[in-house]
Amino acid sequence: MSNIGVLHGPNLNLLKTREPSVYGVLTLSEINKLIVDAAEDTDEIKTFQSNSEGALIDKLHELKDWADGIIFNPAAYTHTSVALRDAISAINLPVVEVHLSNVHARESFRHGSMTAAVCIGQICGFGPNSYLLALKALKDYLRK
Ligand code: DQA
Repeated sequence: MSNIGVLHGPNLNLLKTREPSVYGVLTLSEINKLIVDAAEDTDEIKTFQSNSEGALIDKLHELKDWADGIIFNPAAYTHTSVALRDAISAINLPVVEVHLSNVHARESFRHGSMTAAVCIGQICGFGPNSYLLALKALKDYLRK
């Protein structure tokens, strides 16, 4: 049994209509449902999306005392945000960084991640399946 936070960063609320050739045709709600369905019955999943860096930081702080681990797609903040990196370090929880697209095969400004080094790992390039792979990896990590 685990409490798992799933956080989505800016512009991910627009999934399905936002560059579907890059990010796919599922809505964020549909992706959240896939994650909840893939979790075990005894797992509790809390999902959250924000376009604001501060709101994502506040949510990480809030999850500190509830979650066993976090799955996080920081979206564009991945490449820029020292503040989100510091928040991940500060909460002392295992975080898996997720991206729908293969950021390493895209523009060079997406190749770097401020956040990956303070996460237990990064999964990218598998579309919505990136989140499901992250759930499996996080659950296995928590079991050990
Ligand atoms: C993204 C990749 C980021 O580079 C981009 O800014 C996003 C989405 C992804 O899931 O592929 O908004 O995190």
